[in-house]
Amino acid sequence: MDSQEDLKRCPVDFDHESRTHASNWPTEFRELRGKCPVAWTEKHGGYWVATRYQDVVAMAQDDATFSSFKTFDPHSGEVTGGITIPATPIPRGLPVESDRPDWNMFRTYLNRRFAPKAAEARRAKVRKYADSLLNRVIETGEIDLVNEFTGPVPAMTTMELMGLPLEEWREFADPLHEMVFTPKEAPEYPHVIAGVQWIFKRCIETFHQRKTEPLGDDLLSYFAHEKIDGRAVTEEEMLSFCNNIITGGVDTTTALTTHALVYLNEHPEDYRRLQEEPKLLPVAREEFVRFFTPIHGLARNVSRDVEMDGAKMEKGDRVYLAWSAANRDPEVFTDPETVDIARFPNRHIAFGAGMHRCIGSFMARVMFEEMMHVVMVRIPDYRTHPDRARRYTSVGTINGWVDMPTSFTPGPKIETGLVL
Ligand code: HEM
Repeated sequence: MDSQEDLKRCPVDFDHESRTHASNWPTEFRELRGKCPVAWTEKHGGYWVATRYQDVVAMAQDDATFSSFKTFDPHSGEVTGGITIPATPIPRGLPVESDRPDWNMFRTYLNRRFAPKAAEARRAKVRKYADSLLNRVIETGEIDLVNEFTGPVPAMTTMELMGLPLEEWREFADPLHEMVFTPKEAPEYPHVIAGVQWIFKRCIETFHQRKTEPLGDDLLSYFAHEKIDGRAVTEEEMLSFCNNIITGGVDTTTALTTHALVYLNEHPEDYRRLQEEPKLLPVAREEFVRFFTPIHGLARNVSRDVEMDGAKMEKGDRVYLAWSAANRDPEVFTDPETVDIARFPNRHIAFGAGMHRCIGSFMARVMFEEMMHVVMVRIPDYRTHPDRARRYTSVGTINGWVDMPTSFTPGPKIETGLVL
């Protein structure tokens, strides 16, 4: 019989939530990938960390062994499973925290509303939100890129998708951003959570309101009218869909676009190239998604004893799939620690792998392209000031910026039909 130490092979001092990791993660992952591709850490009750591309993909694809299922008891606060380490004591997100066969039912139901065509149909509205937000500051020459642009554009697009009133965009955008970077022990945390709860309260009210109206094309109307598996969607399921779509889609796209704009400011040769060859933007976009991997890593729950790359994992263990480490694996990507805006093909897994692969990737790509276009055309000489900005102190789930002071030559407002 193996000793406990042998079973938990390759023990390391690692915490994806720590400040050390936030400031040093490419080096930490490079070392782990080389020495301990499936390592064991005692932090957060103990979990495995997978950093090699082939292992992360294999685990994400073997959803029978590596489960995403979560339970949460609102009375006791007890939580098991799910895709975050430490586990989050809130109801599960759907479909992301479900397993087959239920996942098939949830995902099929949502797929109808997330096809590439549906994302493309929203492009003009995304442009309108981006232009209208820029109108608010364009005559001043100053913007906080995160809180006044890359945060609100995805928030407003998501509100419109859900069917929530656009005039509440500030109440919607702020808590969703603050929730990601505010430490749970901070005095302002309860206020942030109250803001997020308010958003879900608005979802519940609008869901019931939509039941009294004819079917419209927003998601809350779809949930109110369209049956799932031959029956009505429950309020609990509706909230779990909203939870996954809202938290999955907003701050992630914010982080991606902010990182890309900071990078281009620091690499004028790449910026010039994109301005001269706008057709390169979709290729560059995938490289930014790979390099910055906004969802840094997510968890799975081991449902049977299994060996991965020499690590003996036991039923009940938890494992952190480091998408960001996999996306810099030199066995798959040439010169992985460098941005190559013309990299092609680009087999990154920043949108996940296997059955839970991101349903909103088309939407994210449209939002990214439109925000980039508006900046590059209307404030082309923008200058980001990362020296005065704050990074997230933990990047373990989302790798982003709290704010980003930015200056530019003032310009004129344009007519968008929307005054914010
Ligand atoms: C750059 C932006 C985005 C990134 C990096 C991203 C990343 C991811 C990743 C890594 C997963 C896989 C989760 C897992 O395997 O456990 C995922 C799933 C998901 N994402 Fe995204 N996402 C983005 C944008 C969006 C948007 C805009 C939406 C919605 C409007 C969205 C909704 C979802 C949903 C609903 C799932 C769960 C799919 C399932 O379980 O079948 N995401 N995303």
